[in-house]
Amino acid sequence: MIMNKRIKILGLVGSSRKMGNTEILVKAALKSAAENGAEVELIRLTDFNILPCRGCVSCIRLNTDCRINDDMTIILDKFKECDGLVMGVPIYTYHLPAIYKLIHDRVYMIHKDYRKFIGKKAAIIAVGAMEIENNLVIPMSYLFLRSFLFHPVSCVKITKAMGPGSVLLNKKAMEKAKIAGKKVHNAIQSNLKDNNSIGCSFCNNNFVEIIKNKIRCPFCGRNGELKNNGIVWENGKVINYLSPEFIIDFFGINKWTSTTRAAYKKEILEISERKKEYKDKNLKIRWIQKEDKKEYEEKSVV
Ligand SMILES: Cc1cc2nc3c(=O)[nH]c(=O)nc-3n(C[C@H](O)[C@H](O)[C@H](O)COP(=O)(O)O)c2cc1C
Repeated sequence: MIMNKRIKILGLVGSSRKMGNTEILVKAALKSAAENGAEVELIRLTDFNILPCRGCVSCIRLNTDCRINDDMTIILDKFKECDGLVMGVPIYTYHLPAIYKLIHDRVYMIHKDYRKFIGKKAAIIAVGAMEIENNLVIPMSYLFLRSFLFHPVSCVKITKAMGPGSVLLNKKAMEKAKIAGKKVHNAIQSNLKDNNSIGCSFCNNNFVEIIKNKIRCPFCGRNGELKNNGIVWENGKVINYLSPEFIIDFFGINKWTSTTRAAYKKEILEISERKKEYKDKNLKIRWIQKEDKKEYEEKSVV
């Protein structure tokens, strides 16, 4: 229970549209959290310069800071500072908008001080214009949150928000957003663990793969069966990208990189040999370049 410290809740607006539906819903959530005593802040993600991960993995391989010089550290500092988060998602092509994916792919940056990210509570507020359910967006939002070690406690999905601000005419939607803000605040106060998810008993996703007559959570790999109009999840141990054990192991002792690196080292000579066939000088494939770009310089990963 947090007693003396004022609870800090951060709102993320994933849309560039000023006073759009996402911004309004996130503001409604923060407003209700503030009415309950929280200190609240907002970030419009698209105001920041977030570049794609280059895949050099020097952050986890060499334990260095990320080599990309952009605004990602501002976002991560804010994640670390807050006690709770309201993730505002405008639904784009049934999915998260690209700005979230850019941030998500930089998640290895948290490995150095991952402990500062653990256990913060979060709510998802996703909004779309269509009548359909956009069922992919929620699992992807969960995945985003869990990757940054947030614990989701509330999830709201609003449909039929046609133009910027139309959500203001949807009383139920506005109410849901306010409740989401309150839930995050209450969950922080009471250190709530459960989010009453109807999906995977482990990672909370309500999105499953069907494999013959079995089902599997595509994120954490847990298996289950459809029985008696419900899902019965297996209890056995699962090797699991999202499990706290995995994350701690991964970030803590770097097992993943050391084992994969050792395996890669053994194969490196053969890989170099086979690469020759695909070197540009041995191929007649033309690279498309930006007109102002100098001649393509081949950069070998090895
Ligand atoms: C590129 C793009 C893709 C979109 N794709 C979807 C979609 O798949 N499903 C949906 O319900 N709405 C979709 N929308 C509509 C937005 O989700 C909707 O307008 C939402 O209110 C945007 O939030 P904002 O007002 O905060 O920008 C899309 C909008 C854009 C611009």
